[in-house]
Amino acid sequence: LNDWAIRPARVSDAPAIAALAAQLGYPSPQAEIEVRMEGLDARGRSAILVAEAGTVVAWIAVRGDLALESGPYAEIAGLVVDEAWRGRGAGEALVAAAEAWARKQGHTRVRVRSNVLRERAHQFYERLGYVVTKKQVVFDKLLR
Ligand SMILES: CC(C)(COP(=O)(O)OP(=O)(O)OC[C@H]1O[C@@H](n2cnc3c(N)ncnc32)[C@H](O)[C@@H]1OP(=O)(O)O)[C@@H](O)C(=O)NCCC(=O)NCCS
Repeated sequence: LNDWAIRPARVSDAPAIAALAAQLGYPSPQAEIEVRMEGLDARGRSAILVAEAGTVVAWIAVRGDLALESGPYAEIAGLVVDEAWRGRGAGEALVAAAEAWARKQGHTRVRVRSNVLRERAHQFYERLGYVVTKKQVVFDKLLR
């Protein structure tokens, strides 16, 4: 059943990562995903991991950050499992791998922000030991 393996993403995974990003609600051209992967890699302090079962069926993005007011923390910046693969443990395994990466970077805290609409994802994170610490409103402004 768990016939997938977790490994760091390669730029050649960009098409599969783009397709999964669309399932997460962020449709992005493959070329842009490639540029972002290279940009994240060049900045350091972050990892993209994939679950591969012949093809890439899930990915997680995690990064280390340093908050002026509360110190260092790691953040799961994105996680998606292919619809056909959900409920088989790939998400849990990717979160565990991201936590291992964070621990190796010296972090003692992992944060994930999740849209209020993703109720099943919230149950998933709670089952994995994540605790709601606050609720926020997100504001965006486009700069001209
Ligand atoms: C949330 C998600 C990453 C979990 O990965 P997964 O591999 O399906 O999860 P696991 O098999 O390790 O664990 C199963 C649990 O995940 C949760 N879950 C959330 N959405 C689910 C779905 N569509 N199908 C199955 N399980 C889901 C449930 O709590 C489930 O437990 P349950 O079967 O007791 O209800 C995955 O379902 C997904 O990609 N969802 C859509 C995108 C999303 O919400 N991403 C998180 C953004 S913060």
